[in-house]
Amino acid sequence: MKDKVLSLLIDKNDYVSGEDISRELGVSRAAVWKAISSLRNIGYKIDASTRKGYKIISVPDILSKGYIMKNLDTEIIGKNIICLDTIDSTNEEAKRLGNCGEIDGTVIFAEQQTGGKGRLGRSWVSPKGAGLYFSILLRPDLRPFDIPNITLVAGYSICKTIRNFIKCDAMIKWPNDIIIGNKKVCGILSEMAAETDRINYIVVGIGINVNVQEFTENIKNKATSLSIAKGCMINRSDFAKEILRQLDKDYRDFVLSNSFSMIDEFKKNCVTIGRQVTAYIGNKVIEGIAVDILENGELVIKNDEKQFNISSGEVAVQGIY
Ligand code: BTN
Repeated sequence: MKDKVLSLLIDKNDYVSGEDISRELGVSRAAVWKAISSLRNIGYKIDASTRKGYKIISVPDILSKGYIMKNLDTEIIGKNIICLDTIDSTNEEAKRLGNCGEIDGTVIFAEQQTGGKGRLGRSWVSPKGAGLYFSILLRPDLRPFDIPNITLVAGYSICKTIRNFIKCDAMIKWPNDIIIGNKKVCGILSEMAAETDRINYIVVGIGINVNVQEFTENIKNKATSLSIAKGCMINRSDFAKEILRQLDKDYRDFVLSNSFSMIDEFKKNCVTIGRQVTAYIGNKVIEGIAVDILENGELVIKNDEKQFNISSGEVAVQGIY
């Protein structure tokens, strides 16, 4: 109910009487009052005037379904949004929901994660309210080997949104880190439930350091945040909306054409290309220059001996964290 009341007050952008709200939503005045009071409890400043009714004065930087879904206008990603306060990991929650039949395009946000997961068994530090931690549940009609490209598409969309919306020079570090300067600002962890040739669902988990001001000792030389790079705080809800719009557009392009059509632009924004790299694949180490990214998403590394096409793994780039 509070999301509906919030949505209505945002729409009107003026005073609305309790009576009008209750009539429009078909609920009792007591239910409206309860919704207003729970919105206030989570930080919305709502003025109440006996003659005019209620008006939103300011919106807190708290992720809410009503605010994010308002005028989102996406076709797949964000058709359902779940905002949680605390969870072990949004990826784990998305998998639990995926196993219970939750719909394609559901996005799960959390204000904080107690067990945020990174790639290669690492953890993702997720301080409350400071970052964006979310996972997207997708059920595309693709084959399992097309999946790594979904992660590349997601990285591309986020990089593009940071560049356009925050106006910071973000770059992609193949396969799926976003960096600013030589430090990491975003990581992506995709997981999948599939049978041999059929995908049940994919979970694309995204962690972005938005307003984080300080990092723990072990990552402080490697990590940065958008607010540090930009020198001001960023409204997470508005930024999240922009990301979902861009992701929805790029993801639909990818699924409909079944090709990585933004590959040229991806390469232009990829810091890995043209640099000396070291790739760790299982217990194999490959050194060379990263020369290209192919349409199937593979990174091409060349050295004096030969050329290697790499589809996954850890790739250290000289000069970048
Ligand atoms: C990495 O760079 O190692 C990937 C980090 C992915 C972190 C995000 S935060 C939201 C989602 N839930 C998780 O537990 N992990 C991903």
